Amino acid sequence: MGHIVLTGFMGTGKTTVGGEVARRLGRQFVDMDAVIETRAGKPIRSIFDQHGETTFRRMEAALCQELAQQVTHTEPLDLAHGRKTEGMVIATGGGSLVDPANRALMMRSGIVVCLNCDAGEILQRVTRDREQNRPLLNVADPHAEAGRLLEARRKAYAAIPWQIDTTALSIEEVAERVIEIAGAFTFPVRYSGGQYDIHLGNGLLSHIGSSLRAAGIPGGAQIAVVSNPTVAALYREEVESSLREAQLEPFACSIPDGEQHKTLATVASLYEQFLLGGLDRSGTVLSLGGGVTGDVAGFAAATFMRGVRFVQMPTTLLAMVDASVGGKTGVDLPQGKNLAGAFKQPELVMIDPSVLATLPVEEMRSGVAEVIKHGIIGDPTLFVELEAGAGATGTWWDERGAARIARALRVKINVVEEDPFEQGWRAVLNLGHTVGHALERLSAFTMRHGSAVAIGMIAAARIAEALGQAEPTVAQRIKEALTTWNLPVRCPPFDAEAIWAAMAHDKKRRGRSLRWVLPRAIGEVEIVEDVPQDVVLSVLQDLGAS
Ligand SMILES: NC(=O)c1ccc[n+]([C@@H]2O[C@H](COP(=O)([O-])OP(=O)(O)OC[C@H]3O[C@@H](n4cnc5c(N)ncnc54)[C@H](O)[C@@H]3O)[C@@H](O)[C@H]2O)c1
Ligand SMILES: [Zn+2]
Repeated sequence: MGHIVLTGFMGTGKTTVGGEVARRLGRQFVDMDAVIETRAGKPIRSIFDQHGETTFRRMEAALCQELAQQVTHTEPLDLAHGRKTEGMVIATGGGSLVDPANRALMMRSGIVVCLNCDAGEILQRVTRDREQNRPLLNVADPHAEAGRLLEARRKAYAAIPWQIDTTALSIEEVAERVIEIAGAFTFPVRYSGGQYDIHLGNGLLSHIGSSLRAAGIPGGAQIAVVSNPTVAALYREEVESSLREAQLEPFACSIPDGEQHKTLATVASLYEQFLLGGLDRSGTVLSLGGGVTGDVAGFAAATFMRGVRFVQMPTTLLAMVDASVGGKTGVDLPQGKNLAGAFKQPELVMIDPSVLATLPVEEMRSGVAEVIKHGIIGDPTLFVELEAGAGATGTWWDERGAARIARALRVKINVVEEDPFEQGWRAVLNLGHTVGHALERLSAFTMRHGSAVAIGMIAAARIAEALGQAEPTVAQRIKEALTTWNLPVRCPPFDAEAIWAAMAHDKKRRGRSLRWVLPRAIGEVEIVEDVPQDVVLSVLQDLGAS
C-alpha cells in the first residue's frame, strides 16, 4: 500500500534506483521530472528559461497532489499482508520535497526515502556532466552554486525519516535498502509525555543510524550500545557501523548473559561503563538484545544522570512483541523478580525479525507463547493464523512472520496506550501469568517462562469455563494452538495447594488481590478478582497437578 517515493539532491541516483526498485517489485515507475517535461512538451531547462522557476515549482506541486491522490488510504497499514504492490515508485525532482507542503503530502501517500551522498562526491557528479538537464546549475560557477543549494536544502532533506547514504553503494545495493525500508511497518506509540515510533522490518538493523537521526538524535551524539556477549558477537558490528555511517559515536557496553544478571550490580557496572565511555546527558543508551538487556539497559538509561535517551533494538521474539513496548524497565531483587524499576519510554524501537534466525528454538517458543497470548487478548485473526500451525517454513523472519509480529505488537500497543502506568486494564497482559509465575517459582526457575505461561493460559481458560464465563470451545482451541507450537499444556505434578500458596505469596508481596485474566472468547478477556480456591485447585489437578 502506498507509494515508494525517492527524493534527495540531484546526482544521488533517484531515477536509476527508482527504476530498479520498480522493476524488482513489479510496480509502475514515475519520474516526476520526465512527466513534467512530457506534459509541457519541452525540457525543464526551457521551462525555467521561458516561464521561470516559480512556474516549474507550481507544476511540481500540482503533480505531487495528483500522485498523492492516486493512493487511497483506508487504513495506515494492511497488517495481514504488509505493504503490497499497489502504489508506484516515484522519483521526485531534486527540489520537489524541499517545499514542506509537498513533503507532507508525499509522506502521507506512502514511504519517502531520501538518498544522500557525500557532499564532495555529489559536487563532482553534478558538475561533471554539465550537459545534463540541471537548469539550476546553469550559472557561471556551477560548483559553488551546487554547494550553496546543497547547504540550503540540507534541513529539508533531514526532515525525512528514512535516509540512505549511497556514497559507497552500488545501484543494486541502494535498491535493496529501499526495498527493506518499503517493507517496514511503522507504529506510532503515544504516551502522556509524547510519542515514539516502532519500526518493524527485515533488514532494519542496518538502518538504525539514520532512523536515530530522524528521531531527533543529533550528529556527533554518543551512543552506548548495551548487549551481552552472545548478541554482541552476532550483531553489534552491523549496528555500530550503521551508527557511524550516520555520524553518531557508538561505544560498546557489555552485560553478562542471563536472567540471573538482571540485577542492580549489573546496572552499576553499566553506570561505570557509561562514564568510561564519556556518556553525558546528551547521550543515548541503545539496548541490543532480549528482554533482560532491555530491562537492565532501560533502567540504567532512566537513572543515569537522572535520565538519558533510550532506544530499543529487541532481538528475541519475546522482546519484540512484549518487553520492548510499554516503557517498563527494571531489575530483579534477591526477594523476587522485577521488584525495582522505572517507567522509561524509548525514543525509538527498531525491530528486525531477520535476527530471529539465530535465536535458539526454546527461546523462540517462549516468544510464541506471548504471541498466542496477544491473539487471545485482542486479535482473533492472529490466533486463527497461529492455530493453523507453523506452516511449511515455520519461521518468523519471513514476510508472514513479520506480519504476525506486527499484529501481536498492535495488541500490546493498544493496551499500553490505554493504561500507560499499569493502573488497570494493562493487567490483561498477565493472561496466563498468575499460574505461570507460580509454576516458575516452584520449579526454582528451571521451567521456561513461555512454558509456564502456556500452562497458565490453559488454566485460565479452564477456570473461565468452570465459572460458566467462557464460550465452550475456548480452552480446547487454546490447548490445540499451544500444542501445534510445541508448547506444554499439562501441569507438572506439583502439589496444587503449593501452586495456590505460591500465587498467594505473589499477591501478598505485591499488595494486591489475586487477579485473574480470564478469556471469555478468543479476542476477549476480562479481569476477575475473586475466583474460589476450590475451582482453581480442581482445574490445576485436572491439568496434572497433584
Ligand atoms: N519490560 C517488560 O515489559 C517486560 C515484558 C516481558 C518480559 N520482560 C522481561 O524480559 C526478560 C526475558 O526476555 P527474553 O526472553 O528476551 O530473554 P533474554 O534477554 O535472556 O534472551 C534469551 C537468550 O537469547 C539470547 N539471544 C537474544 N537474542 C538472540 C539472537 N537474536 N540470536 C541468538 N541468541 C539471542 C540471549 O543472549 C539469551 O541467552 C525477563 O527478564 C522478563 O522479566 C520484560
Ligand atoms: Zn510473559
